[in-house]
Amino acid sequence: MKENICINLKNTEGFISTEEVIALAKQSTRHLDALNAGTGQGNDFLGWLTLPEDIQAQFNDIEKCAEQLRSLTDTTVVIGIGGSYLGAKAVLEALGNSIPANNKNHNIIFAGHTICEDYLADLLEFLENKNYSIVNISKSGTTTEPAIAFRVLRNHLESKVGKEAAAKRIVAITDAKKGALRSLATANGYKTFVIPDNVGGRFSVLTPVGLLPIALCGFDIREIVKGAQVMESITRKNKEAEKNPALIYAAARNLLLRSGKTTEIFVGFTPKLHFMAEWWKQLYGESEGKEGKGIFPAAVDFTTDLHSMGQYIQEGQRIIFETFVSVKNPSKKITIPMEKEDADQLNYLAGKRLTEVNHNAETGTILAHNDGGVPVIKIEVPELSGYYIGQLIYFYEIACAVSGYILDVNPFDQPGVEAYKKNMFALLNKPGFEEASKKIRERLS
Ligand code: PA5
Repeated sequence: MKENICINLKNTEGFISTEEVIALAKQSTRHLDALNAGTGQGNDFLGWLTLPEDIQAQFNDIEKCAEQLRSLTDTTVVIGIGGSYLGAKAVLEALGNSIPANNKNHNIIFAGHTICEDYLADLLEFLENKNYSIVNISKSGTTTEPAIAFRVLRNHLESKVGKEAAAKRIVAITDAKKGALRSLATANGYKTFVIPDNVGGRFSVLTPVGLLPIALCGFDIREIVKGAQVMESITRKNKEAEKNPALIYAAARNLLLRSGKTTEIFVGFTPKLHFMAEWWKQLYGESEGKEGKGIFPAAVDFTTDLHSMGQYIQEGQRIIFETFVSVKNPSKKITIPMEKEDADQLNYLAGKRLTEVNHNAETGTILAHNDGGVPVIKIEVPELSGYYIGQLIYFYEIACAVSGYILDVNPFDQPGVEAYKKNMFALLNKPGFEEASKKIRERLS
């Protein structure tokens, strides 16, 4: 039997007790009940809970579409922002080659996650000699950043290959009926996938939003979903709190918050987890940060950032706890060579795998941070494969929902995201924002 991802609280002892964690985890089984019965806050956004089973009906369609795009083109621009981008990006980074130039998979480039003019101009320059397709992802179909990128890229592609050929290379992933992207797709005959109404953006990685870009790169989406399904089986209905890692994680982080640790730092010891941390930041930040509540989610890459942020974490304000995502086995092997001269004085490491050095750096860091007043939760991952990435995704999603319910917020909305949009539309004189335009100009004068 395969190992599963597990949670280790040894290095939170002295800050919170195991008894307290288990007590809160036990109390939190009622939040699992609320999720399963659909009686909690935001209960019209619970479709992600059963995605590991529900999405299987779409495997063939997703894989066929990926195959078609790969046969027509060598590069795909995936347009999207927030939940319509970070999940795919996180999985592709975790499973792909660390050196982009080594990547033998279909070329994927993301756009629409920024309004930076230089970014899009550089991308267009790159695409000039590429045979490319577009996957445009937006649940609402009206988000400004991806809409701008799509307009520019669609024009570029149409002038390059003609409107008809372009339409065969464009896929839209959006709402079943609503939004400008749905209308454009219908008018132009694009292939489409639906983002279910009851799955919010940041919980959508196991829908075509994440799975199509992942399949395009040639990774096995079935393995990812299989991993998520195993994690679902050990969390969603598991009322044995001690054996439910999602309940334990949600309880531990809330107890740490109550003890004054208001910032959680996601720590990876491999750059491959960098975007998993970005995805996690969005998931927890948007789900919990409301009504003056929530834990501030931050992230670092160690040992890289031990040479920058390490100082603050060790000795700055004592408001931090860390969650180490610790990967046991790498997929490749390098041993440090022996040298006769030993001019760099590294012979004491000769014969050791880099992972052994990395694991010792990890243990040394945990102990140092503990000594400096930083509790550390450890999430142990056997390896960075599709299967375990699937487990990690479902684990974080369900723990986030429970944690949000412990905080007594609706983890599935994001009302605060509208504030900047309203101001931007007013400043740009968007029709319908005339009154807001007047007011904002008065504020700036
Ligand atoms: O989690 C969310 O709902 C958001 O982060 C959205 O994913 C993001 O704002 C993009 O929205 P849309 O997919 O509608 O373009």
